[in-house]
Amino acid sequence: MTATTASCILAKLAATGDAYAKGQPGARESLIALSRELIANLELSSEFLQRSFWAEPAMCASIRLAVDLDIFGLLREAGAEGVLPDVLAEKVGMQASLLKRLMRHLVAMHVLELADGKLRANSLSNGLAMQDYQRSIMFCFDVSRPSLNSFPSYFKEMKYQEPALSKIDGPFNKAFGSPLPFFDWLNANPPNLQHFASFMACYRDGKPNWFESGFYPVQERLIAGFDPSIGEALVVDVGGGRGHDMVMFAARYHDHPGNIILQDQDVVIGEIESKDAQPFTAIAHDFYKPQPVMGARAYSLHSILHDWDDDHAAKILENLKPALKPGYSRVLLNEIVVSEDEPALAATAMDMMILGHLNVCERTEAHWRTIIEGVGLRVINIYRYPGSAESLIEAELAL
Ligand SMILES: C[S@@+](CC[C@H](N)C(=O)[O-])C[C@H]1O[C@@H](n2cnc3c(N)ncnc32)[C@H](O)[C@@H]1O
Repeated sequence: MTATTASCILAKLAATGDAYAKGQPGARESLIALSRELIANLELSSEFLQRSFWAEPAMCASIRLAVDLDIFGLLREAGAEGVLPDVLAEKVGMQASLLKRLMRHLVAMHVLELADGKLRANSLSNGLAMQDYQRSIMFCFDVSRPSLNSFPSYFKEMKYQEPALSKIDGPFNKAFGSPLPFFDWLNANPPNLQHFASFMACYRDGKPNWFESGFYPVQERLIAGFDPSIGEALVVDVGGGRGHDMVMFAARYHDHPGNIILQDQDVVIGEIESKDAQPFTAIAHDFYKPQPVMGARAYSLHSILHDWDDDHAAKILENLKPALKPGYSRVLLNEIVVSEDEPALAATAMDMMILGHLNVCERTEAHWRTIIEGVGLRVINIYRYPGSAESLIEAELAL
């Protein structure tokens, strides 16, 4: 580390700060990346070890414990007034001295605030208090973390080879001693699938959506030219979870023509509240079976194919093909396209998650093209958006 490097990063931070103040898309994400770069340049190895291997695991463990006791919810209720640690300890049934130590660490990690001896929520902890975040914390701590922790022993056993993509047993199976593939295990072990659905909703939270202006031109590419005589659906969200994408899509294009269809597994569809009040029609559908909604303008698959190896990804696309109207229906793959030269943290972090859970990988552009073209589709265009790890690959039947 040199003072020159630090000054150089600081100059970039200042310029990006101006862009952020002007509301430029991607500026916030660049500020975070530059801040991380600055820390990496300044931090000593001993400080890195302390932060990454003690402070952050202890923070995650304390947050997981806080979920069990609804500590963030109680602090949110207390508002700006805050709560004395003794009072909070009594409410949640924890020894006051223990609570003070754990919460002090969360204050040091900027997860909570401390003022006049009282613990106070901040915008981060209030976010974490929301039900989807509470469930996501359970998913990340209870399921993801053991899977990632098993990398050293799993890969030692594998003689440091990448697992064959079609192989079922991976780090997740080693961690849980289960022969079941990840999604089957989630299904068989409630409420883990629900926790996972919450995790997906949180993963999306605040990130640019593919249908935002400047990302994918929905008006020009989907709405213009929509023809109900070909098919009544404007968009079918295949494996769309509980519909978070489609709720936002419908809000943005509230006078859109045609129907919006949401498809997912039975149990996920069953979780959707007040189905009649939703802007979509929810249907349980297994994407390994032929697509039942014919001739839609678009079939959106958001973070679906990245969960599967190449053979399974191809099967999912094959099952869409008979429903596609040539020259009209578009397949929209909203996926990470990994840069070989400048890997972004959001892309590599997701690559590690899916390696840990599913034994699969995030794909480069060349890899995507091989799969898409291999099933007789054609890439029309790849749309990117500043600050977004995900791109929108638009494809159609190859003629
Ligand atoms: C990574 S999540 C993506 C969810 C959503 N598209 C999003 O981007 O937030 C994968 C989704 O695929 C669903 N899924 C897994 N296997 C499926 C199957 N055979 N048929 C339909 N959906 C499936 C899961 O329930 C989950 O909602």
